[in-house]
Amino acid sequence: MTDDLDAVMAVMNAAFDPTFGEAWTRRQLEDTLLLPGTACMLADSAGEEPAPGETVAGFALTRCVLDEEELLLLAVEPRWRGRGIGRRLLQRVVADARSREIARLFLEMRDGNGAARLYAAAGFAQVGRRPGYYRRGSGGPFDAITCAMSIQMVDPS
Ligand SMILES: CC(C)(COP(=O)(O)OP(=O)(O)OC[C@H]1O[C@@H](n2cnc3c(N)ncnc32)[C@H](O)[C@@H]1OP(=O)(O)O)[C@@H](O)C(=O)NCCC(=O)NCCS
Repeated sequence: MTDDLDAVMAVMNAAFDPTFGEAWTRRQLEDTLLLPGTACMLADSAGEEPAPGETVAGFALTRCVLDEEELLLLAVEPRWRGRGIGRRLLQRVVADARSREIARLFLEMRDGNGAARLYAAAGFAQVGRRPGYYRRGSGGPFDAITCAMSIQMVDPS
């Protein structure tokens, strides 16, 4: 698990622009992973589960409570971007949630984040806005956009 944490923190620190203050510290990540229902899904250079020792190109951090799940973080290391890894990770998050009979997925992102395109294409729709929510970076504050997606209990294929 320490190796996985190291790999996730390497992606975290490379992926998030410090201007926006969105990256979590190792301590925040460790504390969150202790909470029930929290999981971190890793991606190799094809977006799939990495074999032991293989490069970790991205990760998705989720937390479920009853039949709802929040996508807390999704990140791909900059040098691996634009190859569909983020999209594949998101597909795996949705498929995994569906297999556990999760009814709704949520996420929150900074207004203006280009990832909005990725989320909209996956089926997320905006359900709220929190003015000035992101205040930690040097460029803000920025509004947070809350998005949700219902997961149909049907075979996705
Ligand atoms: C968002 C992120 C995970 C996408 O990873 P990725 O592997 O490059 O994504 P993909 O290659 O699967 O791209 C999927 C689609 O989303 C679009 N997209 C993703 N991130 C984008 C961005 N920042 N700006 C514009 N478009 C973006 C891509 O253009 C692509 O669409 P297309 O194929 O129609 O062109 C990555 O950019 C990242 O780590 N960003 C920093 C962390 C972050 O902001 N995460 C989201 C909030 S937690």
